[in-house]
Amino acid sequence: MNITLKKPDSSMQADALDFRQEFFDSGEQVINGSELLDRTEQYADWLQSVTANACAETVSPDWVLTDTFFALDAANRIVGIIDLRHTLNEFLRDFGNCGYSVRPSERRKGYATEMLRQLLQIAADAGLTALHLSVERDNVPSVRTIVKNGGVYERSFTFEGGEADIYRIALPPQHEAQA
Ligand SMILES: CC(C)(COP(=O)(O)OP(=O)(O)OC[C@H]1O[C@@H](n2cnc3c(N)ncnc32)[C@H](O)[C@@H]1OP(=O)(O)O)[C@@H](O)C(=O)NCCC(=O)NCCS
Repeated sequence: MNITLKKPDSSMQADALDFRQEFFDSGEQVINGSELLDRTEQYADWLQSVTANACAETVSPDWVLTDTFFALDAANRIVGIIDLRHTLNEFLRDFGNCGYSVRPSERRKGYATEMLRQLLQIAADAGLTALHLSVERDNVPSVRTIVKNGGVYERSFTFEGGEADIYRIALPPQHEAQA
C-alpha cells in the first residue's frame, strides 16, 4: 500500500481544495479529521492554523497540540486526511485522539487502514503510549479500520441521539536513542 502521510504546505493548496470539494459534491458537509478544512474558506488561513497547532510554542490556547497530515497516493494526489491530538481535555474526551477521512472516490481501497497504521507509528515516536478513538457505532468502515489496527472497545456514550464507542489502541513503547 503506497501511502505517504505529509504535513500540509502551501504547494498543496489546489489539490487540497479539490479534495475538499469532492466531499461537498458527494453530499458530505463534514470532513472528519480535517481540523476544520471543511469550515474554513481560505486555504492559507487553515494552513496557518494547523501549522501553529502542531507546535507547542504556538498552539492555540483553546486547542491541544495537534498534527494534521494529508495522505498522498503513489501519484502524490491527496486521497485522505488524518489528525493526531497529542492530549485530550474535557471537551475532547469523547472525540478521541484522532479522526480521518478518505475522499469518496477512493474508499474501500485500504487507505484508511494504512493511514491509521502509519499514524500509530508517528504517535509512538512522539512518546504517546495509547490512543483513544471515538466512532459512531453504525460507522462500519471506521469501526473496521480501528479494530484492524488493534482497537479494543473501552466505553460507550450517546452522540447526537445515537450510540458511539471509544476504542483504545495501545502503542509499543519507544526505546530511548542510545547516547
Ligand atoms: C471511514 C473511512 C475513513 C474508511 O476509509 P476507507 O479507505 O474506505 O477504509 P478501508 O478501505 O481501509 O476499509 C476499512 C474496512 O472497512 C470496510 N469498509 C469500507 N467501506 C465499507 C462500507 N461502505 N461498508 C462496509 N464495510 C466497509 C473495508 O472492507 C475494511 O474492512 P475489511 O478489511 O475487514 O474488509 C471512509 O469511509 C470515510 O472517509 N468516511 C467518512 C469519514 C468518517 O466516517 N471518518 C471516521 C470517523 S473519525
